Amino acid sequence: MSAAAQRAEIPNDLAAFWMPFTPNRAFKKRPRLISRAKDMHYTTPEGRQILDATAALWCCNAGHNRSRIVEAIQRQAAELDFAPNFQFAHPLAFQLASRIAALAPADLDHVFFCNSGSEACDSALKIALAYQNVRGQGSRIRLIGRERGYHGTGFGGISVGGMSSNRKFFGSLLSGVDHLPSTYNREQQAFTKGEPEWGGHLADALESIVTLHDASTIAAVIVEPMAGSTGVLPAPKGYLQKLRAICDKYGILLIFDEVITGFGRLGFAFAAERYGVVPDMITFAKGVTSGTVPMGGVIVRKHVYEAFMKGPEHAIELFHGYTYSGHPLACAASLAALDVYRDEKLFERAHALEPKWCDALMTLKGLPNVADIRCVGLTGAIDLAPSAAGPGERGYAALEYSFHEAGIMLRLSGDTIELTPPLVVSEDQIGEIVDKVGRTIKAAA
Ligand SMILES: Cc1ncc(COP(=O)(O)O)c(C=O)c1O
Repeated sequence: MSAAAQRAEIPNDLAAFWMPFTPNRAFKKRPRLISRAKDMHYTTPEGRQILDATAALWCCNAGHNRSRIVEAIQRQAAELDFAPNFQFAHPLAFQLASRIAALAPADLDHVFFCNSGSEACDSALKIALAYQNVRGQGSRIRLIGRERGYHGTGFGGISVGGMSSNRKFFGSLLSGVDHLPSTYNREQQAFTKGEPEWGGHLADALESIVTLHDASTIAAVIVEPMAGSTGVLPAPKGYLQKLRAICDKYGILLIFDEVITGFGRLGFAFAAERYGVVPDMITFAKGVTSGTVPMGGVIVRKHVYEAFMKGPEHAIELFHGYTYSGHPLACAASLAALDVYRDEKLFERAHALEPKWCDALMTLKGLPNVADIRCVGLTGAIDLAPSAAGPGERGYAALEYSFHEAGIMLRLSGDTIELTPPLVVSEDQIGEIVDKVGRTIKAAA
C-alpha cells in the first residue's frame, strides 16, 4: 500500500466517533484499527494480519469478503438501490423469506424483516403482545426473560434481558416483566463440553412465575437457546424441552432468540433443530447476511401469522415495521450467504468440528486464572478470575495483548474470553487460536 493510501486509512482524530460498548478513552489511547478482511483474517492499516476468532461479533459465519456475497451486493446496488416494503415490495424479500422459512423447523413459515438483532427482539415481543390481543387474550401483557439473557439494546430487549449494566442506567424499562433464573452454576457445571447435565430443572421456575402472576397475564417467554453475550452458557440438558412443555400447558408463547445461534453456529440452521424444540417465534440477525449488510428478523409459526389475517382485507394487520425492513441489498447479501452455507455445507461442517473444537479449548484448563471453560457448536468461552484491580481489568489486558501482540481478535465480556470463529475455520487454525489464546492468558496473568 502506498504511504498516501495508508495515511488515508489511519484517521488523525478519533474524538468524534462515540464508540458503542467500548471504553472510549482507553481505546483512543491505543486503538485497534481494522481496514481489510479476507476469509479468516483481518488486516490492520499497517498491514498486520489478525486471525479472526470471533466472526466479528458472531456475524461472519461464511468468513470475510467472500466473493459470491460481495458480487451479489455489488450487482444489487447497481440494479435496485432501495424500494419500500410498506404497501409495495421487491421480489427478493419474498424469495428470501421463503428460503429462511424452508430452513426453519416445523411450521415456522412466515418471516418479518428488520435490521438488527435488537429490532428482531423488540419485534418478536410486540408480535407476542399483539397476538394475544387479536386472539382475545389481551390480559396477557407480561413478558418473561431470563437472568444473564441478552436481547439487544432496545427498551424491550433490555427489559427482558438480564444484564445489570445494560439496564440500570435506563429508567424503569417495560413494566410487567419477570425473569427466570440463569442456567449457569459453576459448581455444578465447570468444564463441561456441550450441554451440562445439571440444570434442566431450572425451567420449573416458570411454573413459579405462573403461580405468582397467573397464566392469564403472561404473553411470552424469551430465551437464548445458548446465552452468548454473557459468556456462552449452553442450555442444560432437557431445559428447553421443559420450557416448551410449560408454555404449552399455559398458552404462553415461547420465543427463541437465535440472533447468535441461527445460521450454523451450533451445527444446525437453528438451535431449535439441535434441541428438537419448536418455539413459536425465532429471532435472527448477524449470520443471516454473514454480517455483510445489516438485517434481522422474526420467523413465526403459522398459527401466529394466521391469527392476524382476519378482518377487512384492505386493513393493515400489524402496525409495526421499519423503513428498511427487507432492504434489497440485505436480501441480496443474505441469498448469496445462504447459497454459500448450503454449497459449502458449513452448518454440517460446524457440527463435525465441534468435538475437535471442544477438545482443543479444554487443553487451556490449568493455565493461570482459568476458572471455567465452556463450549457448544463452534462457540467457546473461558472465564478468567478477575485481577486485584477489579472486574474487567484482566479481560481488557487480554484484549490488548491478543490484538497487538498475538495477532488474534477475541471477544472479551468482562473477564470472559469468547471464541466464535467463522464456520470456515480449519483444524490448523483451531490449533493457532488455542495457541494464541494460551499466550494471551499467560500474558494477562
Ligand atoms: C442473542 C442476541 N440478541 C440480540 C442481539 C442484538 O443484536 P444487534 O446488536 O444486532 O442489535 C444480540 C447481539 O449480540 C444477541 O446476541
